[in-house]
Amino acid sequence: MSAPLVTGWMCGVCGATVDISVPFSWRCPNSTSADRRHALRLQQGVEPLRSSSEANPFLGFRRFLAWDGFAAAAGLSDAARAALAADLDDRVAAVQGHGFVTTPFARSDALSDALGFAAEGGVWVKDETHNVGGSHKARHLFSILLHLVTAERAGLAPWTSTAERPALAIASCGNAAIAASTLAAAVGWPIHVFVPVSANPHVTKRLGELGAQVVECPRLASDPPGDPCVHRFREAVSAGAVPFSVQGPENAWCLDGGRTIGWEMATQLAGLPLDRVFVQVGGGAFAACVADGLAMGGSMPRLHAVQTVSCAPLDRAWQRSQQFGGAAAAADHWAECMWPWELVGDSAADGILDDETYDWLPVLGAMSRSDGSPVVVAEVDVLRANELGCASTGIEASATGTAGLAGLLRLHDAVQPDERVAVVFSGIRR
Ligand SMILES: Cc1ncc(COP(=O)(O)O)c(C=O)c1O
Ligand SMILES: [Zn+2]
Repeated sequence: MSAPLVTGWMCGVCGATVDISVPFSWRCPNSTSADRRHALRLQQGVEPLRSSSEANPFLGFRRFLAWDGFAAAAGLSDAARAALAADLDDRVAAVQGHGFVTTPFARSDALSDALGFAAEGGVWVKDETHNVGGSHKARHLFSILLHLVTAERAGLAPWTSTAERPALAIASCGNAAIAASTLAAAVGWPIHVFVPVSANPHVTKRLGELGAQVVECPRLASDPPGDPCVHRFREAVSAGAVPFSVQGPENAWCLDGGRTIGWEMATQLAGLPLDRVFVQVGGGAFAACVADGLAMGGSMPRLHAVQTVSCAPLDRAWQRSQQFGGAAAAADHWAECMWPWELVGDSAADGILDDETYDWLPVLGAMSRSDGSPVVVAEVDVLRANELGCASTGIEASATGTAGLAGLLRLHDAVQPDERVAVVFSGIRR
C-alpha cells in the first residue's frame, strides 16, 4: 500500500506545522479569536493526478484527499476508507436524491460563437448547478464531514455517543448554508446556521425543512465592527461547536474537498490545456481550490479572480501587495493588504459580496504564478453574463454563479479568439 500523499499542514503566515494525523486541526495553532490572520495549506508529495474513474470525485480522487491521509493515520484500511466515503455519500443521496458525481464540463459552442471565439478556442463551462445543495459549496464541506465522522468512528472524538455530538455551526444565508444543512441532515448531525435579519425567506424555509436550527443575528449594541453572523458563529465555535465553514481561516479542511472541482476539470480536459480560467471570488476558498486542483492536474491557466465594483477587497490587496514585492511577500503584510471593504454596495451577484477575501493568500499566489490578474466587473457585466450565459447554455445559474463569465466579458478585448477559457457556473438560480 502506498504512503499517504498528504502529510500535514503548514501555515503560510507563521510557519506552524500540523501533522495529518491530528484530529480537528481546523485552524492554525497560533490563530486566536483576536487574530485570525493565519492560513493553513496542505503539505503533500508530488504524484500525477489520476482518477479511479468512479463518478464520485471523493472516491475517484480519494488518494489525493488530505482526508484519506488522516483516515489512514487513524488506522482505517484502504477498504475501510473507501467504504466510509461511499457510506456517507449514500446518506447524502438519501437526502438529496443523488450523491456527489463528476459534474459536466464542456465547450459551449453557442457561448463561444456569441463571444467571437475561433474553432480552436472557446469557452468551457463547468456546471455545478446540479451538485449536492445546488452549488459547489458541498465539495468544501464534505471533507470536513468525512474528517468528523472518521474521528468519531476511530474513537478520536471527545464525545462517546452520537447524542453528545457538538453542533455544527456556519454563518451563511446562501448556498453554503443549504449545502451544510443538507450534509448535516444526511448524518443526523445538529447544525446551527447563523443568518442576517435580511435573509431570503425561501432559503431559511429550506434550511428549516432540512432540520437546521436557524439563528437570526441582529447587530447588537455591544458588537465590534463586522458581520454579526460571524460574531455569533465564532462565539458558538468558542463554546464548542464545530466550524462547518467554507472559509479556510475558520476551517482549513474546507480547502481539501474543494479541490475536487479542479481535479475534475483537469481530468475532463484530457490533456488539452486551458489558457485562462475566470473564477468569481467572495471569500476566496472556491478560487483557491479551483487553482490548486488544476495545478495538481498539471494545468496552470492564467487565473482571473472576479469581483464586482460593489466589493473588491482582493483587487485592492493585489494592488497593495505590489509595493511589498508582490504575492510572495504578501503573507507578511496581511493587515496592510487585506481588510474589510468599507462600503459594500449591492449586486445581483450577492454571493460574492464578502467584505473580506478570507482565503486571499492562495488566490493571490495562484494569480501571480499563472500570470493572471484580478478583474473587477461592473453591474452591467454581471447582468449580461447571467443573461448570455444562461441563454446560450440552457443552465439555470444564479448571477453569482455566472459572475466569472462577467470577468471574461470585461477582459474580452485582451483575450485572443483561439484561447481556451474556462468558467464555472457555480450555483443554481433559486
Ligand atoms: C454560487 C457561488 N459561487 C461562488 C461563490 C464564491 O465562493 P467563495 O466565497 O469561496 O469565494 C459563492 C459563495 O457564496 C457562491 O454561492
Ligand atoms: Zn499560523
